[in-house]
Amino acid sequence: MAEISLCIMTRELCHQFFREHESDPAVYEDESEFQRYVYSEEDVDDFFKRKQVPGRLELAAMMDGRTIGHVQLKNIDNEKRECEFGFHMQNDSVKGLGYGTQIARLALEYAFENLNVDAVCAYTLVKNTRSQHVLEKAGFQFIDEKDGFKHYRAVR
Ligand SMILES: CC(C)(COP(=O)(O)OP(=O)(O)OC[C@H]1O[C@@H](n2cnc3c(N)ncnc32)[C@H](O)[C@@H]1OP(=O)(O)O)[C@@H](O)C(=O)NCCC(=O)NCCS
Repeated sequence: MAEISLCIMTRELCHQFFREHESDPAVYEDESEFQRYVYSEEDVDDFFKRKQVPGRLELAAMMDGRTIGHVQLKNIDNEKRECEFGFHMQNDSVKGLGYGTQIARLALEYAFENLNVDAVCAYTLVKNTRSQHVLEKAGFQFIDEKDGFKHYRAVR
């Protein structure tokens, strides 16, 4: 399988990711609200800027020089030694090929090695069974279901 690595998301990589991004119906609770993603340089600049805050880390998943995935490690809590993981792939051309599973595993390694956390949690819409399957393959365990979301957790 092609090699994937994680690095800090730069403004340039963020643009590279979103220029070819397609939104996915799985992240819409109500699929009638689905909207095709339309790239805007200004919106991406704004998005990038808003994410540069303490307690949050944006990572790019790279393969052959291309940003195929976007990883978020957020709500980094130094007292509880926990953080939250979120991820999405660039578009359909890189889904269903095992890359998302690899990225989730790399993100866990990254968090445990670099963020001084002992646990990483993740939330998915109840209907997002693909994401749940990938989280479980990567080592997350189902914790509970609340308000339309399934809660998963992985420990060091
Ligand atoms: C979730 C996501 C990151 C997974 O990445 P990916 O590269 O597609 O995942 P992989 O190819 O590694 O694995 C997909 C697995 O899900 C399985 N799968 C596919 N559709 C499925 C479904 N509807 N229900 C359950 N499992 C499903 C595949 O068979 C595969 O499992 P297998 O390897 O055991 O056969 C990606 O699909 C994505 O970006 N989705 C949209 C955004 C999103 O849902 N993000 C998560 C929000 S918490």
